Amino acid sequence: MQNRITEILNIQYPIVQGAMSWVTNAEFVAAVSNAGGLGILGPHGGYTTNPSSMDEIIERMRNEIRKIKTLTDKPFAAPLVVSYDLSRIDDVIDMLIAEEVPVALVNGLDNFNYMPVFSKLRGHGIKTIYRPLTATVGSAKYAQRLGADIFVATGFDEGGTVPEKIIGSFSIVSEIVDAVDMPVMLAGGIADVRAVRAAFALGAEGVFVGTVLIATHENPAAKIVKDLIVKHNAHDLHIFRTTPAYYRSIPTPYSQQLVAMDEQGESREAIASKMYGEQGLKVGMLDGDIHNGYITVGNGISYIKEIRSVKAVIEDLMQDFNRSSTIVAA
Ligand SMILES: Cc1cc2nc3c(=O)[nH]c(=O)nc-3n(C[C@H](O)[C@H](O)[C@H](O)COP(=O)(O)O)c2cc1C
Repeated sequence: MQNRITEILNIQYPIVQGAMSWVTNAEFVAAVSNAGGLGILGPHGGYTTNPSSMDEIIERMRNEIRKIKTLTDKPFAAPLVVSYDLSRIDDVIDMLIAEEVPVALVNGLDNFNYMPVFSKLRGHGIKTIYRPLTATVGSAKYAQRLGADIFVATGFDEGGTVPEKIIGSFSIVSEIVDAVDMPVMLAGGIADVRAVRAAFALGAEGVFVGTVLIATHENPAAKIVKDLIVKHNAHDLHIFRTTPAYYRSIPTPYSQQLVAMDEQGESREAIASKMYGEQGLKVGMLDGDIHNGYITVGNGISYIKEIRSVKAVIEDLMQDFNRSSTIVAA
C-alpha cells in the first residue's frame, strides 16, 4: 500500500528511522532500508572517537555513506546539519550530491536561510525531510515555502534533544497537519502499532522513530543499553533541564548527577557542559559506561519488551500496511 510518504521516498513502508548521534551506523541504516523503511545515517555513525575538524566529519560521513551503498540498494538518507557549524553546509551538500544520496534530513535551525540549500538539493533531485527541533505551524509553513518534501512534527515524547515546548507528540501533530498541504510524519514516543495507528488517525502520513529501533540486534548501542530499555518504562526516566530545553535518560549514576545539578539550581549551560562533546551520550550509549554516561530514550520505552531484529520491529509497527485494507489519514 502506497501513500505520499512511500511515493516520495520510494520505500515500502511509511516509516523513517531518525538520525541518532553515535548509534546510527551504516549496517544499522542499511538494515532499516532493507526492511522497507528509510534509514538515516546519524552524526558520528560508524565511529567511536570525536572528529577533530569539519573536514574530518565530512570525510567520515562520505566513508559511511559508501559503506551503506555496499549494504543496500534501497533509498537511505544523510543529515545536512552534522554539527552546529553551518558555515560548511555547502561542502556537506556537495558531498551528498557527489555520493548520490537520495534523501537529505534537514534539521531546521533558527536564523538560517535555507532557501538556497533547498534550491540546490531540489536541482539535484535530492528529496528533503525537514525537521525543526520544535514543530510549530510557522515552521511547517516555512518548510512548505522552502519546497521541502516532508515535514516531521516532533513532540515532547521523543528521545534525544527534546523540543523546547512541552507539548506531547499526539497533541502537536494535528495542528501541523491542518496548517500545511505537505505530508507530515510524527516523531516522538512511537514504539508499538497502537501508536502508529493513533498517529495516522490524527492525520500523520508516516512515523519517524528512534528509540524503538535502538533495542534491535543491528543497532550499535551497547548491550546493557538495550537491556535497560527493555527493563525500564517511561515512569522511571530521569528528566532534567539543559540547553536548549530538557533531556531525559534512563536512570544511570551519571544522569543522577545531572538531575542533582538541576535540583541545586545550576544553569542550563552548566548542565549542558557535562553532556555534550566527548561526554555523556557516546560514553553511555555506545560504550555502555553508565557511570560516566547517560542513555537518552523516548517515552515509548514502556512498550519495548524484547530485543528484536530491525525487520521484526518494522513489520510489527507497519502490520496494517501489509494488509489489503487501507489506512487513511483522518
Ligand atoms: C540516542 C538518540 C540520539 C539522537 N540524536 C539525534 C541527532 O543527532 N540528530 C537528530 O536530528 N535527531 C536525533 N535524535 C532524535 C531522533 O532522530 C528521533 O527524532 C527521535 O528518536 C524520535 O523519538 P523516539 O525516540 O521517541 O522514537 C536522537 C534520538 C535518540 C534517542
